[in-house]
Amino acid sequence: MRVHVADHPLITHKLSVLRDRTTPSPTFRALTEELVTLLAYEATRNVRVTATPIDTPVAHTMGVAIAKPRPLVVPILRAGLGMLEGMVKLVPTAEVGFLGMARNEETLEPQTYAERLPDDLSGRQCFVLDPMLATGGTLAAAIEFLFDRGAEEVTCVCILGAPEGLAAVEESVGDRNVSIVLGALDEKLDENGYIVPGLGDAGDRLYG
Ligand code: PRP
Repeated sequence: MRVHVADHPLITHKLSVLRDRTTPSPTFRALTEELVTLLAYEATRNVRVTATPIDTPVAHTMGVAIAKPRPLVVPILRAGLGMLEGMVKLVPTAEVGFLGMARNEETLEPQTYAERLPDDLSGRQCFVLDPMLATGGTLAAAIEFLFDRGAEEVTCVCILGAPEGLAAVEESVGDRNVSIVLGALDEKLDENGYIVPGLGDAGDRLYG
């Protein structure tokens, strides 16, 4: 599994405002979208393209187009929905599928309550959006779901991750083709499964 932790002052600045407990929901939503666009730039570094001829006003040359089958973007409801616009701004031709998963706050186990994805994901590059990688249970289950449908490659975009969750996802995916792009890798999880220092509950801060 490849892991990329962003190292850019604009990302760290936007994250600092997201972490601040006094940041209100409208600002939190706007900043999440901006942050995702910056992270998506890195996450799509290996998006498949095909050569395509183009005529500029001056000459005939070759450019590239996003290859088929189109990339599939999968926000994990609910909090991942706050990342969708930022991602599709950068890859407007992507198809979008949805996975609804919620973590049981007592057992910390993920439960899937909704799914709207193509049945066959053979050959597809998939991009999973979820702001928080805490215990890693949700992300590991989502990745498993996509590979079970035939996905070829899964890249996850998360705003924050905990080392414990990253290790759990790494163990779960084995040698499959998975990348994780993180805005920051935080210190640890607390006894309630929250990322420390983190930003609180992303779903509540976006939509609560
Ligand atoms: C949060 C978060 C992730 C999950 C991370 O969602 O958005 O999906 O928890 O936890 P894990 O790594 O320990 O599995 P939550 O279950 O609170 O649902 P929500 O997005 O609807 O708020």
